[in-house]
Amino acid sequence: MMENRICVITGATSGIGRQTALQLAKKKYSIQIIGRNKEKCEAILKEVETIFPNGGHQFFVGDFENLGDVKMVTNLLLKNLPRIDVLINNAGCVYQDKKISEIGVEQTLHTNHLAPFLFTSRLMPLVKKGIEPRIVNVASDSHYRGKFNFEDLNYDKSRYFVMTAYERSKLANVLFTNYLAEKIKDMGILANSLHPGVVKTQIGQKNTGSFFGWAWRAMTAVMGISEEEGAKTSVFLASSEDAKTVTGKYFDKSKEKRMSKLAADTALSNKLWNWSEEVLGEQFDFS
Ligand SMILES: NC(=O)c1ccc[n+]([C@@H]2O[C@H](COP(=O)([O-])OP(=O)(O)OC[C@H]3O[C@@H](n4cnc5c(N)ncnc54)[C@H](OP(=O)(O)O)[C@@H]3O)[C@@H](O)[C@H]2O)c1
Repeated sequence: MMENRICVITGATSGIGRQTALQLAKKKYSIQIIGRNKEKCEAILKEVETIFPNGGHQFFVGDFENLGDVKMVTNLLLKNLPRIDVLINNAGCVYQDKKISEIGVEQTLHTNHLAPFLFTSRLMPLVKKGIEPRIVNVASDSHYRGKFNFEDLNYDKSRYFVMTAYERSKLANVLFTNYLAEKIKDMGILANSLHPGVVKTQIGQKNTGSFFGWAWRAMTAVMGISEEEGAKTSVFLASSEDAKTVTGKYFDKSKEKRMSKLAADTALSNKLWNWSEEVLGEQFDFS
């Protein structure tokens, strides 16, 4: 009998991540839920257990604003899992007001890029043991507007704006995916990034004020797709036979799409990788 595939999903407690977990549980994946809120993790665990009983599902609690939590969760996963077949970096957020993280980095870049960078890199020993392993990074079409100015990473010389910081963090997701894909291609591990669509989730109502929250709700009410629909490209890249060999690409509506010119810039992805290792004080070669 074939073993069930083991899938780790960050931000599986709401929105696109929760739906991705439910849809993969229907396909008999063993779901490893990563969330920052224990009660929400318990609730989604119950849901996946109902869909696919005794699937070896578990949850692990950690707040990705905190690198100590990222390391603690990776340590638990390294101890508890035999391997990872699919790793979905889905957790993400916006910050209406500028915030500087515990290590002195603008918080959107910290939570949306540095945390999954560290999470993925530390989990690579388990991914290497995976069966036809795949890494799926939830980016966004916002990356098309993203820019990097390494001279002003914390917006000390320019004005902070919530969307500018978010767009940059999503560009970082695509750059990270591309560099990683190249680094691990000879190990038979796939890594792709995606746009889930404009999805009616609560992301615009977290860490924001009432106006931004209202504008987000109004915009997604008019042009947003459902969370079920929004999970489809993640599920496609995680599980489809049609995505069995593709790596280092960007997807939308389960189809490959051209990424931004900056996202495809290998010198920039190299620079971001080196900066990320430097600021985290860790080096990763995966050999
Ligand atoms: N919605 C869209 O239109 C859209 C478009 C393009 C890309 N995306 C991307 O899709 C991904 C999922 O977003 P969503 O729209 O589904 O939003 P969501 O419903 O707010 O879900 C985000 C998930 O990330 C978790 N999360 C947020 N901050 C975290 C932190 N500090 N530590 C740990 N977990 C954290 C949330 O936990 P809680 O449940 O505790 O809040 C939640 O599980 C994000 O990467 C986002 O950038 C969304």
